[in-house]
Amino acid sequence: MTADAAQRFGRVAVMMGGWSAEREISLNSGEAVLQALRAAGVDAHAVDVDRDVLARLGGQGYDRAFIALHGRGGEDGVIQGALEVLGLPYTGSGVLASALCMNKRLTKRVWAGEGLPTPAFTVLDAGFDPFVVEREIGLPCIVKPALEGSSIGMSKVDSAEDLEAAWARAAEYGAEVIAEAWVEGPEFTVAVLGGQALPAIRLVTPRSFYDFEAKYRAVDTEYHIPCGLDEVQEGELRSLALRAFRATTARGWGRVDLMMDARAHLWLIEVNTVPGMTDHSLVPMAARAAGIDFPALVVRILESTLGQEGAR
Ligand SMILES: Nc1ncnc2c1ncn2[C@@H]1O[C@H](COP(=O)(O)OP(=O)(O)O)[C@@H](O)[C@H]1O
Ligand SMILES: [Mg+2]
Repeated sequence: MTADAAQRFGRVAVMMGGWSAEREISLNSGEAVLQALRAAGVDAHAVDVDRDVLARLGGQGYDRAFIALHGRGGEDGVIQGALEVLGLPYTGSGVLASALCMNKRLTKRVWAGEGLPTPAFTVLDAGFDPFVVEREIGLPCIVKPALEGSSIGMSKVDSAEDLEAAWARAAEYGAEVIAEAWVEGPEFTVAVLGGQALPAIRLVTPRSFYDFEAKYRAVDTEYHIPCGLDEVQEGELRSLALRAFRATTARGWGRVDLMMDARAHLWLIEVNTVPGMTDHSLVPMAARAAGIDFPALVVRILESTLGQEGAR
């Protein structure tokens, strides 16, 4: 990028850290974004987000923000709302989509309402009846906190007796817990950048699902890109991901997780409005397959903030 091109961004706050369970991962994403922007000549600065962030952002001459925050307080509309108040353009989804996509239960309701396929689910309240859950959604199922990420607090449940313990594990991360029908089959993730779906990635883990260990520690997780589907099937996968992304009003960039069952039906799992952004994360991997390297990707995401000034 030329110096002029880098300068049109002005002073950029790279917002990272935060107070969610994904703080450490966000620090990695933020650091990678910061280094890439600086290498591109952008006047980028790290902002480690804590409860004093508003005082630290205001009056510092920032022109825009790159949000590299994952999880609650950063990916869920809270910081987006604060940046709206400050009048600072920011990367990614706005308040509504950020808040919606943080809540898996409500995201699934929106998809179902739009006629988009997402596995059957039920909300688990304290005192739920395991046998009703079994009857309603069947077993196995997966129990998840409605509001977390990084597979935190999730478990696969094979028998009704294990539902209570799975619920307790998930409930540690917030009162809202869902049980979702288990999809047996390959898992895919589709990155969205500037209104387009990038090549799909197929995730393969020898573990029972793509859990925290498989995401961040295991060396035996495989990422297949090209994903192994034929052109027509991959086209369908990408177009479903894009429709699902748009249905939530998400914008800019993000990532949609999907699964395919034994009958080759696709099922929407969730949208990540601020996915991981280290250079070995999934969105950078998909971008690379589309010929966009990590620095170019970071710049493309930041470019979506140009022209937002007038909107506020
Ligand atoms: N309905 C499902 N059936 C089978 N596996 C699932 C299902 N939902 C989620 N998983 C597995 O759990 C992982 C994490 O679930 P996800 O809803 O994407 O939450 P997170 O926000 O933690 O990424 C997925 O990547 C997938 O491997
Ligand atoms: Mg996921």
